[in-house]
Amino acid sequence: MNDIEKARAILRANDRGGYTVPTDRLYPFQWNWDSAFVAMGWGTFDEDAAWREVESLFAGQWDDGMIPHIVFHAPADSYFPGPEVWGTRHRVPTSGITQPPVLATAVRRLWEKGNDRARADAKTASAYPKLLANHRWWRRARDPQGSGLVAILHPWESGMDNSPAWDDAMSRVPTDTVTPIVRRDTGHVDPSHRPRQIDYQRFIHIVDVLRACGWAPASMWAKAPLKIADIATCSILARAESDLAVLAARFGTPAEAAEIGERARAMRAALSACWRPGLGLFASVDLIAERPIDVPTSAGFMPLYADAATPAQAAALGATLDRWAKMVRVLVPSTPPDWPGFEARRYWRGPVWAVVNWMIADGFARAGDAPRADRILADTAKAIAQSGHSENFDPLEGSGGGGGTFSWTAAIDLLLRDRVA
Ligand code: GLC
Repeated sequence: MNDIEKARAILRANDRGGYTVPTDRLYPFQWNWDSAFVAMGWGTFDEDAAWREVESLFAGQWDDGMIPHIVFHAPADSYFPGPEVWGTRHRVPTSGITQPPVLATAVRRLWEKGNDRARADAKTASAYPKLLANHRWWRRARDPQGSGLVAILHPWESGMDNSPAWDDAMSRVPTDTVTPIVRRDTGHVDPSHRPRQIDYQRFIHIVDVLRACGWAPASMWAKAPLKIADIATCSILARAESDLAVLAARFGTPAEAAEIGERARAMRAALSACWRPGLGLFASVDLIAERPIDVPTSAGFMPLYADAATPAQAAALGATLDRWAKMVRVLVPSTPPDWPGFEARRYWRGPVWAVVNWMIADGFARAGDAPRADRILADTAKAIAQSGHSENFDPLEGSGGGGGTFSWTAAIDLLLRDRVA
């Protein structure tokens, strides 16, 4: 099997009939942002499968527009916390929180690249109002004061579960839980690659609090023990708004296009103000402690992906990337090795993630910095060539970490090859 066939085979093997699990056993359901990348990956060779992926995710969308971080299409006992812990009330069982909204970006790409134009138009026309409802939900539920930045209420919503950027805010979250914690993840992969037990106690404490709010956004906003304007989620949404604006011009009304454009502009302005000169990066804001989170993470490059960095900020990000590059074999580590909390193999505390690299590279390319974009993509390809389609990669050695045969890593591999082809 050649390399491209290997990547395709992973998506086929992880396809459960209309949706693709991130990897067998460790993640046996449909995950929100994984699916957006996976749909783009499918789009490179099987457009039907790509649209099915998108539609399966919409099947989990709540009536208020929220798209949950997990859709439990079919039961599986290899994952905790399952549907019984979330206790949500949608037609299909889902979690009660969300994940970074990459979906509009994926739909725009599928629409623009689709070979069967009639189908691409029909599928996009049906996706557009759902995406619009989702972006309105973000604004209403997660930025009620109209600051231009949306908040995550759980570290899992960032998709960067145990990022050191959350440490300080998480240290204020109690560790007691109503729900008994029965972890399954540590039975599937090396526990030293996973979040710690105390992290799980706090993850589940927050789930308990939010479930007690009946998953009602206003009450969640009032009671959440953690509330962070995550620089990566905000950048992804700002970018998704711009992509939705393109769809609105074709499938929406002028009023909708203006509304979306206005949100995108406000978000970019708010993002630009999150610059931290001392870090040479952008940073998230802890909305409860009311202060920026001065921890260097790869998320700090993400405003590039939303066209939110000024030329001076983009140049400074380039210098930061060059400094990090001297310390690693593979860019972009989730934290740099000279930061005291760096752990080369523990999940979001050091490892390289192909999807994050894809977005950061896209950001540098958009800022006109093709050499750095190419370096990041070349490093991603190098890590995959060395260690296969692992969940993530040790930045110092390039070895694979977490689960193997990972869908989103395979999807990015396919996108990398698509770009070259
Ligand atoms: C982990 C990751 C998250 C991802 C999920 C499924 O929870 O932190 O970003 O969506 O696994 O791959």
